[in-house]
Amino acid sequence: MSATLIAQIIDGKEASARLKDAVAAAVADLKAKHNIVPGLATVLVGEDPASQVYVASKNKTAHALGMNSRQITLPADAPEADVLALIQKLNADPDVHGILVQLPVPKHIDSFKVITTTSPSKDVDGLHPESAGRLVAGGEALVPCTPMGCVMMAKDVLGDLSGLHAVVVGRSNLVGKPVASLLLNENCTVTIAHSRTKDLAAVCRTADILVAAVGRKEMIRGDWIKPGATVIDVGINRETQADGKNKLFGDVHFAEASQVAKFITPVPGGVGLMTVACLMVNTLKACVTQNGITNVVVPMRLPPRK
Ligand code: GUN
Repeated sequence: MSATLIAQIIDGKEASARLKDAVAAAVADLKAKHNIVPGLATVLVGEDPASQVYVASKNKTAHALGMNSRQITLPADAPEADVLALIQKLNADPDVHGILVQLPVPKHIDSFKVITTTSPSKDVDGLHPESAGRLVAGGEALVPCTPMGCVMMAKDVLGDLSGLHAVVVGRSNLVGKPVASLLLNENCTVTIAHSRTKDLAAVCRTADILVAAVGRKEMIRGDWIKPGATVIDVGINRETQADGKNKLFGDVHFAEASQVAKFITPVPGGVGLMTVACLMVNTLKACVTQNGITNVVVPMRLPPRK
């Protein structure tokens, strides 16, 4: 009989603080050498409470790291043409280096049009087809923030990922597909699994690195996990409790999985915090690239623990 493993928790708060410190230092270096301050513009259409919290956190973090940031809020019934015109205005604004339109947008607005109207050079969400294409085909690209955070966390605990089998559960443009590309670029053997995958549990059980991005509360159980695996849980599933309070759950059954995995990210307190820190990396990177600057180092991995 093998002894029960208790997983080490990958602390998103601690990891994101390390990354944010490195970004703040680079922002200060950029200001000192070139007198340029990275500028982020976030766009929120409507009043979705969760989106309001996310956007506020993005603006607050940008300010805390020494960047400029402004939030533009449009009413939920804003015509699509107004949203696209705003993006074009931001595309042309030299003080704005990064543009993020919080998703989802209201149903009458075509999110693909929103994404493709954003200039690829300012696409800090990494969702433009040009950014997605560059990620797959090679070349410099702004990559989506949550996938970037997932891979940084995996590399932080595992070091070199070469040759490891990564199973990504979920195939969204926002997480599943880009995280699979990033892991492939790290020389992992990558399987993308999804709702139609036959015997999903058995596929997950082959993963050295399991990335869960399905959006279903605690779908991935302890016996789906290979002993000693690294589990990265991207799920943010909200559930109202009997006391009326909202509680967050991951896509992974944490209590079970943490008895089997070697490393695991919690929800909340895991990947979500890294997403915001990676948006700061992308805003700095967009600013440096747009200005042709080569003597400021953009942190592309987590600095070592002190
Ligand atoms: N909504 C949930 N996650 C994201 C994200 O990473 N970017 C944007 N723009 N909207 C989101």
